[in-house]
Amino acid sequence: MKSKLSHLRPKGLHIVTMGCQMNVYDSQQMERLLEPMNYRPARDPEKADLILLNTCSIREKAEHKVYSLLGRLARLKRKKPGLIIGVGGCVAQQEGHRILERAPHVDIVFGTFALRRIPRLVWQVIEKKRRVVDIGATELVEPPCIRPSQFQRGRATAFVTIMTGCDNFCTYCVVPYVRGREVSRRPEAILKEIQYLVEAGVREITLLGQNVNAYGMKKGHGCDFPTLLEAVNGIEGLKRIRFTTSHPKDLSDALIAAFGSLNKLAPHIHLPVQSGSDRVLKHMNRNYTRDYYLERVESLRNVRPDIAITSDIIVGFPGEEEIDFKETLSLVETVGFDNLYIFKYSDRPNVAASRFANKVPDDIKSERFSRLLELQAGVTLRKNRSVVGTIQEVLVEGLSKKSDEQVTGRTPCNMIVNFPGTKQLIGELVPVKIEKAFSHSLFGFPVNRREDHYGRKGGTPYAA
Ligand code: SAH
Ligand code: SF4
Ligand code: F3S
Repeated sequence: MKSKLSHLRPKGLHIVTMGCQMNVYDSQQMERLLEPMNYRPARDPEKADLILLNTCSIREKAEHKVYSLLGRLARLKRKKPGLIIGVGGCVAQQEGHRILERAPHVDIVFGTFALRRIPRLVWQVIEKKRRVVDIGATELVEPPCIRPSQFQRGRATAFVTIMTGCDNFCTYCVVPYVRGREVSRRPEAILKEIQYLVEAGVREITLLGQNVNAYGMKKGHGCDFPTLLEAVNGIEGLKRIRFTTSHPKDLSDALIAAFGSLNKLAPHIHLPVQSGSDRVLKHMNRNYTRDYYLERVESLRNVRPDIAITSDIIVGFPGEEEIDFKETLSLVETVGFDNLYIFKYSDRPNVAASRFANKVPDDIKSERFSRLLELQAGVTLRKNRSVVGTIQEVLVEGLSKKSDEQVTGRTPCNMIVNFPGTKQLIGELVPVKIEKAFSHSLFGFPVNRREDHYGRKGGTPYAA
């Protein structure tokens, strides 16, 4: 009896997700797709029967990470020969068969378009004992599973991909090569998916696309991004909406106006500028100027004075001179970003900039990186300190990593706040009085409760 039913034993699936939020979303899709084959999420890779790496190829370092992880998995596979290892995502799309050659213990290579074919690929490995590669590029219009599974419940926040691909071809960027052309999902399917998530307890959603401002702009679609936002804003039970990423060149007046009119749209925008020098922006093919970017920032602040603005910057782009970098420093000072993600330029396969002359030496890239980081660290800390003493509405996302008696969540402006509390608070919006500011987070105490979850009587008066 036991042996007859042994094939029904749930099998462990361990997914390692690297890269951007889109990969996080895709990994959840993989989990859902493999559920009918009796695969269940396994936290511990040692307990898994199937390990999938969902990879990122945005910088060389991200790609190296894949091969070093695969090196470690080779040992695991020697211990457990039945283990199936698959490599998916952007590195898989880019490298294809080369991964099988470099890593003989890999069974499956599946690119970004092969996501929904993963059950068939796993089946081929099990039944036909074959190694398989699928990097075929067929358009992915709708994700196959839009209802969260029982294993994906209990979350306060979720990502929803609204469009895939990118048509912009910034000269440094691999995304258009590994994710294909822009395709926008139908608004009805997106709204349905968000409704399901809200029914499962989600209170905040982040709409994802490489350039959400271009959502629905292709012929025959008929619903642009501000219109979609308005419809999402009407979903009952949903408390907050965020989106990422927004390309400055397509940041329309209508989208800026949405920050003034939609009550659920959080006052935060991630608006990657990449450089403060017009000359560099031109070589990057970003299609906007420094002045245009500053004007868009001003318009956003006119509509929503408290809006948090965060950005990405690449230092050491080919041909970047000290004078260009100084322009970046001055733009960063002028805008006063709430947070900044800084990257050293990295050559990528196929992209135009990898063939550009005047590559910046690594030591100069590192030096510029440190200078910019130091400048921004001061600004971020100042911004964090400026909210000490205020009351912020925090959406609780989970237990804090530091202690089981603390929870963590975010303010509308996306600042991380830790405060005493228990996991029963997950999914709740809690007013928190901010008492301390650190470089990457805030700490406070909940207010407006006579006796709250951590047993501290009285709390801090709301209007303190
Ligand atoms: N679609 C988004 C960016 C996605 S990639 C946008 O256009 O804003 C995330 C960030 O990685 C980019 O904003 C850029 O700052 C950085 N990046 C992309 N390619 C890079 C490269 N070749 N070297 C270094 N950083 C890079
Ligand atoms: Fe890459 Fe540019 Fe597309 Fe962003 S907009 S994904 S940086 S090509
Ligand atoms: Fe990386 Fe692919 Fe995202 S390259 S940043 S995982 S789209």
